[in-house]
Amino acid sequence: MGKAEPLPGTSDICFPEVQEWVSIENSARTVFSKYGYSELRTPIFERTSVFIKSIGDETDVVQKEMYTFEDRGGRSLTLRPEGTAGTMRAIANMGVAQGEERRVFYMGPMFRGERPAKGRKRQFHQIGVESVGKVSPAIDAENIAMLVDFLESTGINGFKLKINSRGSREDRKPAEDVLRKHFEDKLEGLCEDCQRRFTTNIWRMLDCKQEGCQAGIESAPDTFELLGEESCNYFRQVCSYLDKMGIEYVIDPRLVRGLDYYVHTVFEISHPGLGAQDAISGGGRYEIVVPGAKKPLPGVGFALGVERMLIALEALGKLKDDVSLTDVFLVSMGQDALDHNMTLASQLRAAGLSVAMDYELKSMKAQMRAANKSAAKLAVIVGESELEAKELQIKNLQTSDQATVAFDDVIDFVKSNI
Ligand code: HAM
Repeated sequence: MGKAEPLPGTSDICFPEVQEWVSIENSARTVFSKYGYSELRTPIFERTSVFIKSIGDETDVVQKEMYTFEDRGGRSLTLRPEGTAGTMRAIANMGVAQGEERRVFYMGPMFRGERPAKGRKRQFHQIGVESVGKVSPAIDAENIAMLVDFLESTGINGFKLKINSRGSREDRKPAEDVLRKHFEDKLEGLCEDCQRRFTTNIWRMLDCKQEGCQAGIESAPDTFELLGEESCNYFRQVCSYLDKMGIEYVIDPRLVRGLDYYVHTVFEISHPGLGAQDAISGGGRYEIVVPGAKKPLPGVGFALGVERMLIALEALGKLKDDVSLTDVFLVSMGQDALDHNMTLASQLRAAGLSVAMDYELKSMKAQMRAANKSAAKLAVIVGESELEAKELQIKNLQTSDQATVAFDDVIDFVKSNI
């Protein structure tokens, strides 16, 4: 590793790639605001207890992946591994009256100490949303529709939406007993995590990716059949709303999700362009006991991994290869021309155009090379004779057409030719 490289599993995000990030973030703001969501920015680190209590102390995230450290005052702090826990803390801090709904979205870095691989980073970026305070299958379905709307707005298609129900906490107890019976006599052949989960969180056994555990998972009973009437009806309604909105989905009875706060609806979106880490987004309905509250606060939401969205866009051949920050490049032949172009640059920028120029009076050839490299559409060429005639040359760098334009008409000409 070179001295200037960032740590493994982290990246610098620079031009031109950063333009794709900006474009995805802009789409998120546009789409989420159509559904009444406003932006929330929470701290990147929180008290460790904020995450343990919400995400669940038996989850992989809490057990194996959190970046937890003591500050100088001996407090245990953690870099946020996901956005839901901090969002719920912030919403509890703002206060939500009984029956009130708050809709927020967030975007930014999250941190998990995982083994770096394609699409798996230690500092990655999520775009997420949470609708907090109300419980309704219609809100769950609308949330999923918004996720699909957002993905499509970025140009990502060909994805697969899987949904399932975890049932309410009370309704799923009988299913847990049946699962326990099913796995009881198979425990010896299962991985260490599954052996632990048998007592701590039986549902997560269905989510295990280890080869040796697959036979037991495949033969496990369909838990949906075992959920109580209320949970089944809730899920049927979610599906019926999705049908009404024309959202395509597959019901996957093995989908449980890796975080403990989920109840009722859970969903995940995968994309074939991603390889092994194929989940581009995941979410669902949840209940979280926020600091200072007696009763759990309900919510529904999802988060997408921006790095994984970019992998999907690349696989679809949709990453832009002609990104440019420059509309027009000013070429100055001589000091008088540079003096003129410094003023012209201010006028063009004031008119909303992006301008690059040469500041060093390089040769014509070198300046034209720089103009082409900037990927500007137009080059404005000014030399002594242009200053005398009060006209300048404007070259279209894509077609090589060249026009003579009077000083007074330059801004209009540039605006109508970029
Ligand atoms: P999650 O499934 O843990 O859910 O993460 C959501 C998305 O973040 C994943 O689908 C993936 O695209 C991305 N992601 C997760 N870990 C990594 C990683 N190490 N490297 C790159 N990308 C990653 C949550 O975080 C929940 N808070 C979602 C949610 C919101 N549920 C309800 N509301």
